[in-house]
Amino acid sequence: MTQHNPVSRETFDQVMVPNYAPAKVVPVKGEGSRVWDQEGREFIDFAGGIAVNCLGHCHPALVKALTEQGQKLWHLSNVMTNEPALRLGQKLVDATFADKVYFANSGAEANEAALKLARRYALDHYGEQKDQIIAFKQGFHGRTFFTVTVGGQAAYSDGFGPKPGAVDHIAYNDVAALEALISDNTCAVMMEPIQGEGGIIKADPAFLNKVRELCDKHNALLIFDEVQTGMGRTGELYAYMGTDVTPDILTTAKALGGGFPIAAMLTTDAIAKSLKIGTHGSTYGGNPLACAVGEAVMDVVNDRQVLDGVKHKHQLFVDGLNAINAKYPIFETVRGEGLLLGAVLNSDYQGKARDVMVAAVEQGLMCLVAGASVVRFTPSLVIPDSDIVEGLARFEKAVASVAQG
Ligand SMILES: Cc1ncc(COP(=O)(O)O)c(C=O)c1O
Repeated sequence: MTQHNPVSRETFDQVMVPNYAPAKVVPVKGEGSRVWDQEGREFIDFAGGIAVNCLGHCHPALVKALTEQGQKLWHLSNVMTNEPALRLGQKLVDATFADKVYFANSGAEANEAALKLARRYALDHYGEQKDQIIAFKQGFHGRTFFTVTVGGQAAYSDGFGPKPGAVDHIAYNDVAALEALISDNTCAVMMEPIQGEGGIIKADPAFLNKVRELCDKHNALLIFDEVQTGMGRTGELYAYMGTDVTPDILTTAKALGGGFPIAAMLTTDAIAKSLKIGTHGSTYGGNPLACAVGEAVMDVVNDRQVLDGVKHKHQLFVDGLNAINAKYPIFETVRGEGLLLGAVLNSDYQGKARDVMVAAVEQGLMCLVAGASVVRFTPSLVIPDSDIVEGLARFEKAVASVAQG
């Protein structure tokens, strides 16, 4: 047996680069939507590892897929392909608009691939002047240098020297700004169908239709970043399926692996041709362990009953949060779709989302923030209704403690 030295939250401050500020507790075990820390304290999980654990913790189908593949074949690299990658690729193609799949390991990497593909496609078909990428303020696409530059938050992109060029930002849902900016030199428009990190803000249907229309008019590719909205989160397999719009490129990560790192970029045959042999790649992309888990996630989530369950659970959350707000009015509104929910603090509680999150941990509940003034919930898509009820009761106590100062 390997001997483990005891570690604690203090160890984090001693040995980790200080770019995160994790909670005081250290979880050691999870099952479904419950988690236990080193002291044996139990938590209800409304955070889901930031929209990742779509089937909760240690779902039997995922444990089975991982352990079975773990006894067979772990890694090859892309010098050879492998069965789990081929099967998951086929399932993604069968279930979506896409004809082709590129596997990566994180949302940022899938987006990096999407952006590079869009640039290369524009170069191949129209010439080097067609390089403009239009993206949106408050957008979030990951932390590589290209993706933070395309994400519309200076706090994440500034202070690292010169950024990749030809990236412009406009306000989300602003049709006039898009009409004014887009031209034949636009290579791609990149957007989240619901801005997640930016505060759970939905794209207006009319805006989405206009984006598609203008991209078509100017031969610009429409990239949907579905890293957070994908894999059932909104009650559809992908959020675009609940709209009138189909993107040219879609990125998916987070819930795709249910907790195992995997991401994918999906696109059409015509566009995929621009990633020729050697133009892009990854050692781990399409790793058999990751793809075996991804396949098991797809098998469970891509099911009408599970997806309809997400819509039902959405309503439980909205009703429960509104009832809490009737007692302790700290929220202006509850918004979002499916199990991507944001409770927006009202003017008296601006900037206090983190306080609510910390108070929730005290009450045995894990939730998230999306910016300074939105409390975010991204639980398991199959969280039992009874866990929602109990979690909301704990959340009510947290809200009460914040409201009573
Ligand atoms: C919409 C969106 N895109 C991309 C990312 C980046 O994903 P990752 O952290 O896996 O690189 C995130 C992460 O929060 C996200 O929400």
